[in-house]
Amino acid sequence: MRLRCPLCGREYDKPVQRCSCGEPVEFESFKGEPYIGKTVWERFWDFWPVEPSLEFSLGEGDTPLIKSKIGEELGVKLYLKNETVNPTWSFKDRGTFLAMSYAVKAGYKAVGTVSTGNMAASVSAYASRFGLNAKILVSESANDEKVRAVSVYGGDVIRVRGDYGKLYFESLRLGEELGVYFINSDNPFRVDGYKGIAFEIAEEISPDYVLIPTSSGGLFRGIAKGFTELMRSGLIEELPTLVAVQAEGCSPICRAFHDGKERIEHFERPDTIAKAIANPYPPSGNAVLKLLRDFGWECVTVSDSEIIEAQRELAGEGLFVQPASATGISALKRLAESGVVPEGSKVVSILTGSGLKTLSHMEGREIKECPLEGLENCMSF
Ligand SMILES: Cc1ncc(COP(=O)(O)O)c(C=O)c1O
Repeated sequence: MRLRCPLCGREYDKPVQRCSCGEPVEFESFKGEPYIGKTVWERFWDFWPVEPSLEFSLGEGDTPLIKSKIGEELGVKLYLKNETVNPTWSFKDRGTFLAMSYAVKAGYKAVGTVSTGNMAASVSAYASRFGLNAKILVSESANDEKVRAVSVYGGDVIRVRGDYGKLYFESLRLGEELGVYFINSDNPFRVDGYKGIAFEIAEEISPDYVLIPTSSGGLFRGIAKGFTELMRSGLIEELPTLVAVQAEGCSPICRAFHDGKERIEHFERPDTIAKAIANPYPPSGNAVLKLLRDFGWECVTVSDSEIIEAQRELAGEGLFVQPASATGISALKRLAESGVVPEGSKVVSILTGSGLKTLSHMEGREIKECPLEGLENCMSF
């Protein structure tokens, strides 16, 4: 590593901030061959049910897999799949992009979704990108700030009075009648779009466990499908153990799983800080239950206080995620401490969405104020 002053030409072998002549310094020019990469859509071209419309891509997918310090304390090798860097700051963009690629090819002029959070923003943004109209159906109680952030992309946001649980099915019925293609939480193209998460992980490591925050079940099904397709294609030799993670305050899938039930039941009075995964009657709940049973996978619930602690720990590593996205880390703690995840295991936790979308419950740290003269007095460690 060499730094050089572009004005006086002085060179430095260690990282100084500025040249002794007072001017800025810069690294010496590098010579090398650029790696002209292909996107995950192109690398796995034959795995998609419809040709991805690359001209409308916003750069979703190909997210970083980061080694985490949190794993060291737990005796495992922990990697974080950072989905918060997607164009609308959540994994939803992968599924939205693929489903909209289908919608334009099928001649739809309008798309829709039922959501109040990440999916609403994603569908609204991609509808603008694809040149489609968007109908975003949100619940009566949806938080104003979130709704405004969705409408900024140009989609029609409609607050619906009535039973929010019934809205999913009503949207599909109305969509057929009115020619609006609804891209809800477990739309089959959306679910297939999530396979890219499994493909990208498998390109880098062979995990033993993958922790997946789970609500409707679409994400879990997509990642499961991605790994099983890789296995069938002979690209990986073993499947990881997938862990569906739910909040204690809304855990219809884990409850049915632990009670040995065949089908999920409506979870009365959901109450958790992890609002993004608080679907009381997940449309893919039964499908997730079957996967858990068929493959001997796990379902784990975590409390709000464990979620907040995990969210803070991730922030302490530079990653600000929303409460729903921190649940994987809380679950890992339980599993590692109880010995279910053995020491030395390779574990991936999916960080599904950005914390900037859920600022209201966060308490930041104390902000210091200090006069410029005497600034050093405020900078003690
Ligand atoms: C941040 C976040 N994590 C996880 C999930 C769970 O995804 P799914 O509903 O597909 O199970 C959601 C769903 O909205 C979400 O917004």
